Amino acid sequence: MESTPKHQQLLHLLLLTTLIYLSSAISIQSSFPQEALPTKSGYLTINSTSGSSIFYTFYEAQNPRTPIYDTPIVIWLQGGPGCSSMLGNFYELGPFRVSFSLRHNVEHLTLVRNSGSWNRIFGVLFIDNPIGTGFSIAGSPDEVPRNQHDVAKHLFIAVREFIGLEKSFENRPIYATGESYAGKYVPAFGYYTLKKNARLAKSRRLNLAGVGIGNGLTDPEIQVGTHALNAYYSGLINGKQKMELEKLQEEAIRLTRNGNWSEATSARLRVLGTLSNMTGLATLYDFRRLKPYEDDLVGKFLSSVEIKRALKAKESISFEVCSDLVGNALNDDVMKSVRYMVEFLVKNTKVLLYQGQCDLRDGVVSAEVWMKKMKWEGIGKFLEAERNVWSVNDELAGYVQKWENLTHVVVMNAGHLVPTDQAVNSQAMIEDWVLEKGLFATGQVTQKPSHIGTCSIG
Ligand SMILES: *[C@@H]1O[C@H](CO)[C@@H](O)[C@H](O)[C@H]1NC(C)=O
Ligand SMILES: *[C@@H]1O[C@H](CO)[C@@H](O)[C@H](O)[C@H]1NC(C)=O
Ligand SMILES: *[C@@H]1O[C@H](CO)[C@@H](O)[C@H](O)[C@H]1NC(C)=O
Ligand SMILES: *[C@@H]1O[C@H](CO)[C@@H](O)[C@H](O)[C@H]1NC(C)=O
Repeated sequence: MESTPKHQQLLHLLLLTTLIYLSSAISIQSSFPQEALPTKSGYLTINSTSGSSIFYTFYEAQNPRTPIYDTPIVIWLQGGPGCSSMLGNFYELGPFRVSFSLRHNVEHLTLVRNSGSWNRIFGVLFIDNPIGTGFSIAGSPDEVPRNQHDVAKHLFIAVREFIGLEKSFENRPIYATGESYAGKYVPAFGYYTLKKNARLAKSRRLNLAGVGIGNGLTDPEIQVGTHALNAYYSGLINGKQKMELEKLQEEAIRLTRNGNWSEATSARLRVLGTLSNMTGLATLYDFRRLKPYEDDLVGKFLSSVEIKRALKAKESISFEVCSDLVGNALNDDVMKSVRYMVEFLVKNTKVLLYQGQCDLRDGVVSAEVWMKKMKWEGIGKFLEAERNVWSVNDELAGYVQKWENLTHVVVMNAGHLVPTDQAVNSQAMIEDWVLEKGLFATGQVTQKPSHIGTCSIG
């Protein structure tokens, strides 16, 4: 794609090049309007010998509030392990999201503007992490990371290289965020970065200013023990089923404590599979949903050569939303805790933990249980802090609890993919947390009077 002449590339875009290909009965049309193109995209080299490299898309702030050299950059990492951040880009928090319609027996996949995009006032960098994921390239299967240290090492190299692309990127504050299994990646990257920074000359450091995790898996041994109680008190299983599920949870915990990692990973999947079978829900990612999230739309959209070309992704890569190669490489990592990394981060930078309220995999209860156990001088104060009612545009959006460096947000009417379900509220959350406004301000104890009367509880 580097060799495509510019005018030719432009032509493709101006014509809103439409690809039509036939699937069994109906055809799909995908188009990529020029205004939806990333500001920058392509590859960051991890190993020039093996050819391993990380794919990224970057969207500059639409209406920055500060000079660009001061404007924050938010990094987004998808979970999995092995799922592409193009999911975040085109289904959750990017400026345009894939939308599906059926007209005259033709499936249309179009990009629709997202009013809750996270790049309204910040730059947003989506990274296909680790190598082997999405459009990223693993030089050899052996090079795919098998632990969080190696994940973080590669991410640090990639982000350093990205920052080096423009002089104006150099000192912009960086906020590392992500979802689900990124509950491992985000702490690992933050921890590695702060430790590494301490040994580097100022000009080689990364200006990490905070980390944020949505519906994360961070401390699996504790988190796997919460499903039965949570489902029981949500009215989804009865007492007998609760006991059955608890037995399976105990097995997962026992295997984790024994360091029998691969067995422990399977045991957790048995817990989730059993819960899924008992409840008959369409998805554990959101107990309200009658159909699973339609993330496969992103896979369909990105399978087109024209779209890959527009994104400067390698055309020969057959895009998968989630990679089995990477999932398998990190199989033994799944049940390993990174809570100690969050404990280090909360002492040295700011930490946001948020969960969609309706997630049964890595939801509110699952997060609160390990947060309570954090070894941090501020944890007592945090636990005593008010849980404030949080409103956006005069409507109830959820709850915010904060003390010093730690902020916890419960997002109402959202499942595992918070930005998909509550785009505008998730945008308000990330902006106010970064800028420390409203309930996210330091020293904020109670809700300001101007908000009272707008909350619809009771
Ligand atoms: C880069 O790739 C080469 C060839 O696969 C390998 O021998 C080398 O160890 C890799 N370097 C790093 C730093 O991973
Ligand atoms: C791990 O689990 C397997 C299967 O239950 C068992 O055969 C093996 O002995 C266990 N290993 C350890 C180290 O506990
Ligand atoms: C859930 O049900 C399916 C279909 O009956 C079955 O194949 C699967 O093994 C069950 N999963 C668990 C963990 O029991
Ligand atoms: C919060 O983070 C700052 C660094 O940004 C640190 O100096 C401070 O000690 C931390 N506070 C607590 C209570 O850990």
